[in-house]
Amino acid sequence: MASLFKRVASKALLSVVAVGLTVSLAAGPAAAQDYPSRVITMIVPFAAGGPTDIIARIVSEHMARTLKQTVVVENVVGAGGTTGSTRAARATNDGYTIVMGHMGTHAASVALYPNLAYKPDADFEPIGLAAGTPILIVAKKDFPAKDLKEFVAYVKANTDKMNAAHAGVGSVSFTTCLLLNSVMQVKPIAVPFNGTGPALNALLGGQVDYMCDQIVNLVPHIQGGTIKAYAIGTAERNPALPNVPTSTEAGLPEFQASAWNALFAPKGTPKPIVDKLSAALDQALDDETVRKRLLDLGSDIPGKDRRGSQALATLVKSEIAKWTPIIKANVTN
Ligand code: MLT
Repeated sequence: MASLFKRVASKALLSVVAVGLTVSLAAGPAAAQDYPSRVITMIVPFAAGGPTDIIARIVSEHMARTLKQTVVVENVVGAGGTTGSTRAARATNDGYTIVMGHMGTHAASVALYPNLAYKPDADFEPIGLAAGTPILIVAKKDFPAKDLKEFVAYVKANTDKMNAAHAGVGSVSFTTCLLLNSVMQVKPIAVPFNGTGPALNALLGGQVDYMCDQIVNLVPHIQGGTIKAYAIGTAERNPALPNVPTSTEAGLPEFQASAWNALFAPKGTPKPIVDKLSAALDQALDDETVRKRLLDLGSDIPGKDRRGSQALATLVKSEIAKWTPIIKANVTN
């Protein structure tokens, strides 16, 4: 009797397990087919109003239309963007939480945080590059220097009085001004903010002296003369700011600095879902209105060959390799 019971019980157990597996396997393709069936959260790991937030809101607006679903931008600040990026890495990998990361959170942070809670090149599914963002050296409106040469001389002569704003260790503004300060051989007072949105407000108010920031945050203020731009860290001038010299033209060729912002999903997000998100981002970057908004703010919109998961995976690895030695050389100094 007992052995008959065992046989029946184990058969029942097997069928329950089989049904469970079928349901979970079926859920994969079915979940992808129905995706998105509810609101998508796009984490921005910095304060509202900064460059990452600006780019996130521009592309998410169009992606929402393509996906026929609401995309909510959620600002999760702290620790140079690594708090929000960690939140995304640990989120359920169902496609309903994604993050707008960048050169800081998904490359420079590896060298800046020995115990970083995530591996940018292993704990995410890359969705795609959204925008390249050249870096500018900017100062408060009444900074007493008419060009980059005078800026460098003044900062060197007044280092202990200089307040340099950034968005936290691991941010783009921190990383690129680490490079600038090393080139100038200065150690100013570092003033951290939860993003370069708030940092810019302090610059506009004269509470800080200078910062290195992404062009999309700066164009209207430079055009309006409410802050000073001394140079852009790219080989060519930017069409949105044709009067701002390159760092090479301005006499500081060692300062070459560009960043990028890109979308990531947590590791294990099903490929059909990642592909849907990549396709929606791709369509956003092909939309004339989106392109005009990004280009007017000085962004570099990736060509088709630089879009999608594979291209972003390659970029993350190359950027970690690029920034790690620069950071290690400058942080130890
Ligand atoms: C921001 O959006 O505030 C910036 O991306 C922060 C930074 O990385 O400098």
